[in-house]
Amino acid sequence: MTDWPVHGRISGPIVMIGFGSIGKGALPLIERHFEFDHKRLVVIDPTDVDREIAESRGYEFIKSGVTKENYRDLLVPLLTRGGGQGFCVNLSVDTSSLAIMELCREIGALYIDTVVEPWLGFYFDKNLGPEKRSNYALRESVLEARRKNPGGTTAISCCGANPGMVSWFVKQGLVNLAADLGDTAPEPKTRAEWGALAQRLGIKGVHIAERDTQRAKDPKPRGTFVNTWSVEGFVSEGMQPAELGWGTHETWMPDNGRTHKFGCGSAIYLLQPGANTRVRSWTPTPGPQYGFLVTHNESISIADYYTVRNDRGEAVYRPTCHYAYHPADDAVLSLHEMFGSGGKVQEKNHILTEHEIVDGIDELGVLLFGHAKGAYWFGSQLSVEETRDLCPYQNATGLQVSSAVLAGMVYALENPNEGILEADELDYKRCLEIQTPYLGPVVGVYTDWTPLSGRPGFFPEDIDESDPWQFRNILVR
Ligand SMILES: NC(=O)c1ccc[n+]([C@@H]2O[C@H](COP(=O)([O-])OP(=O)(O)OC[C@H]3O[C@@H](n4cnc5c(N)ncnc54)[C@H](O)[C@@H]3O)[C@@H](O)[C@H]2O)c1
Repeated sequence: MTDWPVHGRISGPIVMIGFGSIGKGALPLIERHFEFDHKRLVVIDPTDVDREIAESRGYEFIKSGVTKENYRDLLVPLLTRGGGQGFCVNLSVDTSSLAIMELCREIGALYIDTVVEPWLGFYFDKNLGPEKRSNYALRESVLEARRKNPGGTTAISCCGANPGMVSWFVKQGLVNLAADLGDTAPEPKTRAEWGALAQRLGIKGVHIAERDTQRAKDPKPRGTFVNTWSVEGFVSEGMQPAELGWGTHETWMPDNGRTHKFGCGSAIYLLQPGANTRVRSWTPTPGPQYGFLVTHNESISIADYYTVRNDRGEAVYRPTCHYAYHPADDAVLSLHEMFGSGGKVQEKNHILTEHEIVDGIDELGVLLFGHAKGAYWFGSQLSVEETRDLCPYQNATGLQVSSAVLAGMVYALENPNEGILEADELDYKRCLEIQTPYLGPVVGVYTDWTPLSGRPGFFPEDIDESDPWQFRNILVR
């Protein structure tokens, strides 16, 4: 595909915060798909190892961290200079999504990010306690800002691959499933109708089920954390408590499971790190696999979005929802090494570039389970080879994220006055239309696998044979 469509015009300056694996990947997509004044695109990052990539393309590079102290003074002039509507694309770590989003809305600039990121220090602050360090609490802070200040300039929260694209996959997956199960009702238009559809189809849960098979040319060196995207981001979220959207069909909770006393009530957390919590799941390439139940915003937002409530406001239906992530094998080894050394993070870290990877795909989708056909996986199987042909400076994992950022940016431009939005609330068809050319094969596959397949084995197990889709059967204990 050489005739790439231009999706719109950004009339003001573009400020990209963070120029790591995702920032570098998003830049050529922004260039390709938007008209904008190239003299007013600026990249901000405290590390300037990749300054040349930005500068060789004619963009300004500011070597600086965005901090609690400087963000106003730094960002306001950059987002307003030269007139038009500015666009802030936040792809950094350690910057407060909420603070920057609110600032953008104050000055009428569009905003997008891929995670509700806190200021530096939050993730490893032992004084906060697990509940305050949860993604549930971070998400609630964004929902609170929306309640206090509804409407206004569009700011899209958590619009990467996951969180982000997977919320569009859930909708597409439900529509496909409805057709296959003979549900003839018109496609849902409102949140309540989507919840009703999931309930009608008998969806007990959703795994964000991912298998990254990308393999590096060189084996992982001892003492280095290797990953296919942000090591900092992965370690931070991996050390947060495991969190999951908590379905109404669940009859058992682990002893270290805790509910929240505030907010929407859609999720629980476990008193253990997500990256050290294994669950049974399934994706097409390996079939059954272990994934890590790493906390993610979408586990909470999807469970919340599809909650059906009665007149008294009590939840009568909600799917369980969580991440089941098998990262690249090198990242699995890195986690094993890190937890084995008492959780001490390796001194070196490395993100594999598209040139260091020999082969592999990032198979990222949603597994909708508990319905009459068992389980249905719908997602993207993007390979590193295809990625190299499509867009520079990124591997398959990166392109799934950066192309979701692109889709979210188009949505914001086309709908500039919708206030703070989550990916679940965007027009999934429009977003997937923009993103699909970058996703490789996008497929739907049924499986008769359940978390009870092959169990019990040689030893007695605490399982619930009356319902395979209980979290009791999914959690590896
Ligand atoms: N939703 C998704 O699907 C998804 C997927 C991957 C990454 N992410 C998130 O996107 C973000 C970027 O990921 P990445 O893989 O590019 O990470 P990365 O570690 O490769 O890059 C992060 C960049 O942020 C910069 N940075 C650090 N402190 C900063 C500050 N104070 N101000 C400005 N920049 C700062 C770093 O120098 C680095 O270049 C992370 O928050 C990550 O969690 C989301």
